[in-house]
Amino acid sequence: IEKLLCSQDLAGKKVLITAGPTREYLDPIRFISNRSSGKMGYALAEEAYKRGSQVTVVSGPVSINTYADIEIIHVQTASQMYHKVKEIYDQYDILIFSAAVADYRPKTTNQNKIKKENKNELTIELIKNPDILKFVGENKKPSQVIVGFSAETENVLVNSQKKLEEKNADLIVANNVLEEGAGFDVDTNIVTLISKEKIENLPKMSKSEVAKRIFDHVVTYLCKM
Ligand code: CTP
Ligand code: CA
Repeated sequence: IEKLLCSQDLAGKKVLITAGPTREYLDPIRFISNRSSGKMGYALAEEAYKRGSQVTVVSGPVSINTYADIEIIHVQTASQMYHKVKEIYDQYDILIFSAAVADYRPKTTNQNKIKKENKNELTIELIKNPDILKFVGENKKPSQVIVGFSAETENVLVNSQKKLEEKNADLIVANNVLEEGAGFDVDTNIVTLISKEKIENLPKMSKSEVAKRIFDHVVTYLCKM
């Protein structure tokens, strides 16, 4: 019982997590997306739930099942994810942005299927999507804790520290997605936890273990607030 009580260190907290990829449609049947599986985001949701919090996931398309008590709000595009988060973010205490949001979307989405007839080349114009984490970082209440992720293939530390600052996050979870056992699809991750106070390199571990370490950091941070 003691262990159970002690592990409920997120009781009374509301946690919002973005997870999975987004889909940016060219026409009704084609889209641009990325390799995100949603595993990291759902591992975070389950860890938050086990520690006693009320959890909502704004989720792009993934094939993962989770506990019935975790609220899943399904979206497809970055714009939909942005609007949903914007609508509800102020009700949450801890917000974690693990979604692999597409940075760009096609400037126009065809109403009908794009036909190949008479086209030997096809150019798709892309425009930038809104940055969801940046919006929340800029508009958050002082009591809200914000965690972002950073996917990099080079200059991981410097680029991730820039994200911490520019997005006004309290913690950035950085990973080099080219490293074996990190990033997309796999069940493990190799991350560095970056805050203003410290940089912590974690060894390769399961995504659920990474989730634990992230919430340990958040709980410690909340205690000092
Ligand atoms: N993010 C977001 N909305 C976007 C793009 C990114 O909320 N439109 C969030 C991601 O969920 C992640 C963080 O911002 O928590 C960093 O995402 P990442 O792709 O690593 O960096 P970007 O800021 O998009 O820059 P770049 O892709 O050029 O490295
Ligand atoms: Ca990006």
